[in-house]
Amino acid sequence: MSKPIIIDCDPGIDDAIALLLAIASDELDVKLITTCAGNQTMEKITTNALKLLSFIGEEKIEVAKGATRPLFKELCIADDIHGESGFGEVELGEPNCSVSDRSALEAMRDVILNSPEKVTIVAIGPLTNIAILVKSYPEIVNNIEELSIMGGACYGGNSTPTAEFNIFVDPDAAQIVFKSGIPITMFGLDVTHKAFLSNEDIERIRNTGSKIGVASASMLDFYASRLTRGIHMHDACAVAYLVDPSLFTIIPCNVEVETKGEFTNGQTVVDKNDRTNKPKNANVAFDVDRERFAEMLYQAIEKFN
Ligand code: RIB
Ligand code: CA
Repeated sequence: MSKPIIIDCDPGIDDAIALLLAIASDELDVKLITTCAGNQTMEKITTNALKLLSFIGEEKIEVAKGATRPLFKELCIADDIHGESGFGEVELGEPNCSVSDRSALEAMRDVILNSPEKVTIVAIGPLTNIAILVKSYPEIVNNIEELSIMGGACYGGNSTPTAEFNIFVDPDAAQIVFKSGIPITMFGLDVTHKAFLSNEDIERIRNTGSKIGVASASMLDFYASRLTRGIHMHDACAVAYLVDPSLFTIIPCNVEVETKGEFTNGQTVVDKNDRTNKPKNANVAFDVDRERFAEMLYQAIEKFN
């Protein structure tokens, strides 16, 4: 029986790879895709999600628009990494499907409350939509299996010295989510910086010869040109874990989100050594079998042949 999931995302090049992995995986059943402004603005990321689904012939998957900006902060985007369009310089063609009439909030609530089994949410953008969901419908927590989140870090950051982008964009939302009581598995930079693709991996994806393999490789070419520390498949970690948890090494930790720090705003304070004795509200990933992870991504993209 495949696991019902909702993917909340800000596509985004690594979001695109994560979406392809989820859709290709027999273990997962993508019930809904929701968008949250982050890598690019709401219009661009939503158009990208629709273009990707059309490009792979999966137009039936509902795409619903969510938050256009964080709860309190101004939106900051990552066009330096994902480009003006959010998909680098790759053009997938006009979508032949439309965005849902329902908002992300309505669609998530409906899918979760009407699912015969608990729904897992894959959150691979800022956590604004998830925070609004749990604040608007507190009872919904009981129908959520878990939250698989790409965000945060125990050590370091990529938006500031201490903050990772998804959390940095909306730390107030992240704090609400980490205090929600929903079971959380967190894929922060500690593990996603180990979950990289090599140039050989990208050539192997390009050489699948399918239009999706060629387009994915072209997106990754752009992504690689904007990165200095490796071609990190951040978002795909949050999906790969649901397909095969054995890929990852995970430690239960207390995680707090800094929302007032002058220099550390958006930091996830991960108590890896249990110094505080606080409840362990997240299972935090620290290591990955990179070879098997890269192979999983290749096999997923190859399936679109
Ligand atoms: O820090 C990495 C995260 O920020 C990923 O979700 C990537 O898509 C960007 O949104
Ligand atoms: Ca993302």
